[in-house]
Amino acid sequence: MAVERTLSIIKPDAVAKNVIGEIVTRFEKAGLKVVAMQMKQLSKEDAEGFYAEHKERPFFADLVAFMTSGPVVVQVLEGENAIAMNRDLMGATNPKEAAEGTIRRDFAESIDANAVHGSDSAASAEREIAYFFGA
Ligand code: TYD
Ligand code: MG
Repeated sequence: MAVERTLSIIKPDAVAKNVIGEIVTRFEKAGLKVVAMQMKQLSKEDAEGFYAEHKERPFFADLVAFMTSGPVVVQVLEGENAIAMNRDLMGATNPKEAAEGTIRRDFAESIDANAVHGSDSAASAEREIAYFFGA
């Protein structure tokens, strides 16, 4: 299995709940290493560009409003199978459908305020890491 890098965002709801440390601990305990980390207030342009693939979706405006509602923690996680591993740790997009023990099940309230983002493929990871951290 290959060592991969993936982009993680701890979203404004989780930052507001004071669970940055608990979420990072889950990554670390699963063997993922934080190799870059930045706390940031996203601008509207930052959020729109990041989620450009969703710009035609009905929830896009609300998603951008939510992602700019407070600071986020953007991280690059590295490890064996990091992309799928992070998605497993996160759980389903809708916390009501997320498996027990996942970050979204434990820390998220709703599908629109769902605690974390994680790249969904190698191509997304490459684009998303470059978006926040450059080459
Ligand atoms: P998506 O990429 O489908 O989910 P994931 O974050 O699990 O990769 O959607 C991006 C974000 O858009 C999602 O985390 C929360 C928001 N969203 C909604 O608000 N409503 C929805 O119905 C969906 C599908 C997503
Ligand atoms: Mg996604």
